[in-house]
Amino acid sequence: MTESRSPRFIQSPVADGGPAAARAALLAPRPSIAPKYFYDPLGSKLFEAITELTEYYPTRTEAAIFAAHGEDLRKAFGQGTILVDLGAGNCAKAARLFPVLVPRRYVAVDVSVEFLREALRQVQREQPQLEVVGLGQDFSAGLDLPAELLEGGPPLFFYPGSSIGNFTREEAFAFLHRIHERATGGGLVIGVDLVKPRPVLEAAYDDALGVTAAFNLNALRHLNAAIGSDFAPRQWRHVAFYDEAASRIEMHLEAREPVVVRWPGGERRFFAGERIHTENSCKYTASGFASLLRDAGFRDPQAWTDENGWFAVFHAAA
Ligand code: AVI
Repeated sequence: MTESRSPRFIQSPVADGGPAAARAALLAPRPSIAPKYFYDPLGSKLFEAITELTEYYPTRTEAAIFAAHGEDLRKAFGQGTILVDLGAGNCAKAARLFPVLVPRRYVAVDVSVEFLREALRQVQREQPQLEVVGLGQDFSAGLDLPAELLEGGPPLFFYPGSSIGNFTREEAFAFLHRIHERATGGGLVIGVDLVKPRPVLEAAYDDALGVTAAFNLNALRHLNAAIGSDFAPRQWRHVAFYDEAASRIEMHLEAREPVVVRWPGGERRFFAGERIHTENSCKYTASGFASLLRDAGFRDPQAWTDENGWFAVFHAAA
């Protein structure tokens, strides 16, 4: 009888600028809230709801590209890779690739191992022979992969969902460069949202049902819990616009009236109309992103896109 495996879990120490950094960001001349505050349990559910919205094209467009090109991925990278899934979430996107890629080991990285636990148990039930590892880590500040996890096959890094767009271009370059250093002999598969007409972009980040507005406002609740502030979400409005010169969506929260926010040891006054920056979502041209991959050290970047040219899945060798 073959023995079935169980997932292994590793939680990296939390390298968290945490509450002090969050308070300092609120006190800055251009106040901001880090996007990680979107993702408490309610925020993660709201994000899942966003991916179902008619206006939010990236998730379904990327899924269709993967469905059409899975076999091409197998040709590019072969079977038996170490599949490293960055920001794995519920692991559904990587799981769809298992039948074609047949990885040797699946390393799912997400900010919290707790969040991965149930998803990886399900992965293991469906793939009893696969070696499954959950790594809890906030890799936005730096990816720290234990070397043993990359042993035994070429590494294939998987970063879908256009999350690369939530980094500034400089951060994106540094992040890709760090991945390249660890991907020798393997490669990278990455989803990238492309530049497109403003109305399509602005609707995707300001939907008719107000789900993205709730997602943005929920960062205030999460921040209240994290730093003891007393933000009242009703005093704030969701703002999202496309900055064409910077090719990025910016999200902000705008005070509807004069507001004083207090937390233990501090406070900040906001005037009516003052904004707190919460997120950038950079959009790339296909040629611009191919150059970024080359600059970061990758070879032969190739893109698959949808018929509208709205989204691209790149793969590149390291
Ligand atoms: C997670 N990330 C790729 C999303 C995006 O499209 O930038 C986050 C998001 N923000 C608002 N809607 C979705």
